[in-house]
Amino acid sequence: MNKEIRLNDKVFSLSITEEHILEKVREIAGKINTDYHGKTPLFMAILNGSYIFAADLLREIKVDCGITFVKLSSYRGIQSTGKVKKLLGITESVDFKDIIILEDIIDSGLTLKEVSKMIREFRPKSVRIAALLYKSNQNIPIEMVDYLGFKIPPDFVVGYGLDYMELGRNLRGVYTLNED
Ligand code: IMP
Ligand code: MG
Repeated sequence: MNKEIRLNDKVFSLSITEEHILEKVREIAGKINTDYHGKTPLFMAILNGSYIFAADLLREIKVDCGITFVKLSSYRGIQSTGKVKKLLGITESVDFKDIIILEDIIDSGLTLKEVSKMIREFRPKSVRIAALLYKSNQNIPIEMVDYLGFKIPPDFVVGYGLDYMELGRNLRGVYTLNED
């Protein structure tokens, strides 16, 4: 695996290897398999960033489950715009279902807040959050994340589904933006 990569005008260094990520994903899946024994959770993955996390996690889930997708966008370049655009809303009823929201990374927490608001228009049986990465923020305290992969410093990262200007989603590891 390359230790350093260039995307457009920026250089990034490997910070979490694929092996380490997959180990965590299996750990999270193990907890969900235990917690949802006898239940049929519906995963709600937030596109685009969480598509790889969702694909890897679901293949480790042993209980019956479904998946649905919503699409929101809040980032431009390497910064949050502070506004969340809803590009695809909830397309099926989540009434009386056990929902597990899948987010690639929680930064400002605005995206998750918006998704929670969308879900509250229904009557889900329960709602939990699984996130691969967590940066520090106030909107979603870390205790609200039921299943977490890694807490990381507040630097910009790419790879494993995350992009910089739509590049880098295909990288197997997570890479952190180099300081200039
Ligand atoms: P939030 O709404 O600020 O919590 O940001 C959530 C969304 O912004 C994530 O689902 C990502 O798609 C994107 N995002 C946040 N931080 C990063 C990053 O470091 N790299 C790439 N995308 C990010
Ligand atoms: Mg995302």
